Amino acid sequence: MKRTILAMAAMLLAASPLAAQLSERPGNSQSGTPDTDLSGLSLKTPRVRVVHTEDLTLEGGSLWLQLMDPFLAFKMGKDLTQREFEIEHGVFVDGNFGEISNLKGTLEDGVTAAITGNDQVSCGGCHNLPYRDAGGGTNFSKHSGVGRNAPHFFGGGIFDMLAWQIRQKMMQQIDDNRDNWISLAEAANHAGQDLLVEPTPGATPISYGRPDDGDGDGRPDLNSIFLIWYVDSSGAVVDGAKSLNDPGVAGYNFALEVWGWGEKENNLNTTLRIFYWDPILAHTGLDAYDPTMIDDPEHDGWGAVSNAGIPQPWIEHIPPDLGNNLNSVGLSVDDPDGDGVISEITEGDLDMAEWYMLNAPRPGRGRITQFVRRGEEEFFKMGCAECHVMDWQIEPADDLNPDIHKRYLGDLRFFDLDVRFDPEDQRLEGRLIKLYSVDPSTGIHVRHRNGALIEGIGTDFRKHEMGPDFYQMHFDGTMLREFRTAPIWGNGASGFPWGHDGLSMTLDDVIRRHGGEAKAARDAYVSAPGTVQELVQAYLRSFLLYSTDQIPADIDGDGVISDSFIVAGKDTGYERFNPEWLFRVPGEIEGMVMNHWGEPIRSDQLVNIADAYGLNLAGLVDTDGDTFPDVIDECPTTYGYKDGCNN
Ligand code: HEC
Ligand code: HEC
Repeated sequence: MKRTILAMAAMLLAASPLAAQLSERPGNSQSGTPDTDLSGLSLKTPRVRVVHTEDLTLEGGSLWLQLMDPFLAFKMGKDLTQREFEIEHGVFVDGNFGEISNLKGTLEDGVTAAITGNDQVSCGGCHNLPYRDAGGGTNFSKHSGVGRNAPHFFGGGIFDMLAWQIRQKMMQQIDDNRDNWISLAEAANHAGQDLLVEPTPGATPISYGRPDDGDGDGRPDLNSIFLIWYVDSSGAVVDGAKSLNDPGVAGYNFALEVWGWGEKENNLNTTLRIFYWDPILAHTGLDAYDPTMIDDPEHDGWGAVSNAGIPQPWIEHIPPDLGNNLNSVGLSVDDPDGDGVISEITEGDLDMAEWYMLNAPRPGRGRITQFVRRGEEEFFKMGCAECHVMDWQIEPADDLNPDIHKRYLGDLRFFDLDVRFDPEDQRLEGRLIKLYSVDPSTGIHVRHRNGALIEGIGTDFRKHEMGPDFYQMHFDGTMLREFRTAPIWGNGASGFPWGHDGLSMTLDDVIRRHGGEAKAARDAYVSAPGTVQELVQAYLRSFLLYSTDQIPADIDGDGVISDSFIVAGKDTGYERFNPEWLFRVPGEIEGMVMNHWGEPIRSDQLVNIADAYGLNLAGLVDTDGDTFPDVIDECPTTYGYKDGCNN
């Protein structure tokens, strides 16, 4: 199998470097090339690794993009989730397995493989409802024969922010000496204490468990969604420790592992940054080298805070490429998957991907009819909202608070897209709300990091025992019984199918499958008259996903949605959230052209791709087109897709 792949790679290269870029469509009506797309919706730029920076000296470096051209950084991150990666980018070929669609990972028995890996060339291969967005979609072969359903990650940043905030509010209650970990003595001081967090001020608090090991199983009795790691008397990780009772363990540290439906232990991934490098490794076989994650001199389990502002624990998952050997331009040459391509995903790429996922617009709200309102009342009466907690408050940033556990991050997004049904226009409409100000002297986009009330999320960020109809038997016969409360937002039509296993084809079915801790609510639903059940479903269906760059939206803040929105002197049609309109150098479309049937049509393909996308900025310019920009290319004028010099 491996030999076949290498032979294929050789053929592609023999053709020409351009043949490697078929999935990009920068061509316009004049190009006469196969890579034409007059809708302008396809990827327009070649793969170029992004250089991680922490100051603004390199134009086109990751921090420069985030602060000086944030919508371009957003679009570049989005493209990293949509790009169909190719052989030249290092897909699939894996030194340990050397296969495509090979079995990977191990389940609890230590033998049975957990998933089919190397099975997709793009995040968008699975997350594609709606297409080209942070949508949900398909099942894939994970842990069990029925598979795992891919959830959407619209509004992703809000989860990362709340996960950190919930941990801070728990720490306030138990970390008596404020050293950012919990000693056995602190756990004992607070033995049996429910760690309560209010989702919004004054709302019923949610219990995240207890800090001590009351049941004597060696694990603090926090809710099973928490990732817990064990530390010594200086707060440093005791490598390999799995229990409070292991030798050398003096306490523990923890993070709310907010992502995933639920795993046997804790959950899947703690932050969005991890949720790029992990799947791009598992599904696409691209190895990430990410100093941000692995920079941990104290060995306390926490890496650095990313450029975007989220603290990154490496402790459960270490990005595959540790950078043991660096080349003269700072790239890791370790090549852990042994396919010859180095630094397949860079720290700067992860800055872009995280920036996009953190700012991915949140789901919208459909038409609020009488039925929807009455359904909402029933949803609360039945007790659904005890787990599906609808509203959450993000605390404003407070970097200087003397109490380290009151130093909140604030709302780290740089914009919000507020999407709801407009009764006058009878359609879903968006409104772009900028969450930054531009410093007039430097041009830096400074995020406000204010507080924010986020309505309609619908989860308590806890795992629950859900009863036999949800249990999932893994390939190795072990049973999964606890799941994270699935968020309600985006749950309407676009949530289909429902449940971690995608086994429910209707909302009614997934509600009836509730049991265990949700039995009382489920019984209330099942015993209600059919009309009342339909009201609840109508309520759930009002939480919608949408195509972010297609729905009409007011993006210039003038309070109206123009029918002919002018960008760079061209009429782009109705006003919508196309990030390209908001770049530092706005995209200029081709405009009215004749198609080959002689019909006048508007071509939305850009005529200034290089300028709009900053392809000539010092950090991004890639003279030889080998995907290594000149600043990190040891041979900037020789095409060498493997390491900048060699093919
Ligand atoms: C083979 C299909 C597939 C591919 C490819 C894939 N995902 Fe996923 N994704 C899933 C499934 C299935 C889950 C749920 C996993 C679980 O809970 O066990 C998921 C979960 C997620 C989540 C968490 C959502 C939540 O609500 O918990 C995020 C974020 C995510 N994926 C992002 C990505 C990104 C970014 C990529 C590309 C780098 C990607 N995924 C590639 C199938 C896929
Ligand atoms: C004890 C907590 C709890 C209660 C109470 C509860 N749920 Fe859930 N709900 C969950 C969990 C956990 C899941 C995820 C199940 C899975 O992993 O498949 C879920 C899943 C769902 C889903 C599927 C979401 C998706 O994206 O697939 C819907 C819809 C839903 N619940 C509606 C309701 C309604 C309506 C009620 C009240 C009648 C209710 N829930 C009560 C915990 C709860």
